[in-house]
Amino acid sequence: MPDNNLTINGKQVAILEGESLLEACAKIGITIATACHDSRLEAYGGCRTCLVDLEGAPRPVPACKTIAGNGMTINTTSPQLDAVRATIDEMLECTSRAAIDSYVDKNRFIGYDPEQCIMCDRCVRYCDEVMQCNALEHVGQGSNAFIQPTQGQSFLDTSCELCGGCVGTCPTDALYSKQSFELIDTDSNQQLATTRTVCNYCGVGCVIDIESQGNTIIGIDAQTGVGPNDGHLCTKGRFAWQFVNHPQRLTTPLIRNFDNNSLEPASWQQALEFAANKLSSIKRQHGADSIAFLASSRCTNEDVYSLQKFARAVIGTNNIHSCAAT
Ligand code: SF4
Ligand code: SF4
Ligand code: SF4
Ligand code: FES
Repeated sequence: MPDNNLTINGKQVAILEGESLLEACAKIGITIATACHDSRLEAYGGCRTCLVDLEGAPRPVPACKTIAGNGMTINTTSPQLDAVRATIDEMLECTSRAAIDSYVDKNRFIGYDPEQCIMCDRCVRYCDEVMQCNALEHVGQGSNAFIQPTQGQSFLDTSCELCGGCVGTCPTDALYSKQSFELIDTDSNQQLATTRTVCNYCGVGCVIDIESQGNTIIGIDAQTGVGPNDGHLCTKGRFAWQFVNHPQRLTTPLIRNFDNNSLEPASWQQALEFAANKLSSIKRQHGADSIAFLASSRCTNEDVYSLQKFARAVIGTNNIHSCAAT
């Protein structure tokens, strides 16, 4: 196999077909600042934050968008690059977009602050490439440019699925979670904390980061490159966490009292004995095939496996199904 090498800051690096300069640099521990880049999206090359010097090229090239080639020589630091990067930083920090009216939308989850927007289009591209919803658009040019849901409608009136992926990929918090913004107490001396765990809504098992302040959840996020979800979440995982402290949340089993048709709190021991007795008596009177088990798609694989074992081996019926199977 022919050599395929690139020289980065005087060091030879083996490269793979199609690898970008940014990826080649990361392999030897050189981190280059990026803004419009998201490894889950097509390379865009819009912001120029990641410029590097390429020998023979008339001007610096964007590392995220330039494919590494055999024999290339690049440098990631130089006085000229420092000067160009400083100018680009200034341009990205330009707040003249503040002139655009604050964005107000009736949806409860996603807000947009044009003052924070650097027009990197990550949100638009995420919505197109990952969600294929095409629910966001880039409007106007220069300091008059801004992002909006299609044709200036509410997120709720577009094909938006409220997955919040646009919020997740936004590098500046221009797109933000309204709930987090309302719940965070900036006057409190309680520390913010992040707890990594697994979403408990369904069996996909997305890895989530729960942001909290004291005992209050203030938001949920997910990180690119972590878990089976790679930073993606659905609307339940990202936005529907208020059940955790909801006063109507069930915290104990309930058994129906058929005398007055009410549901009455019970201990786990009482509930399990009640279910076991009922299943035994139904099986005795009507046979095992009079019983069927339906597993929720929210169950994990392990839960569903245990349930089918219980149905087949303990009760003695093959009447077992999961709505995730259809
Ligand atoms: S929430 Fe999801 S579907 Fe809606 S605009 Fe953002 S990325 Fe697109
Ligand atoms: S809202 Fe965020 S992701 Fe979208 S263009 Fe502005 S800065 Fe980029
Ligand atoms: S798909 Fe949605 S509900 Fe299921 S684990 Fe992932 S975020 Fe949670
Ligand atoms: S991060 Fe490379 S051009 Fe924007």
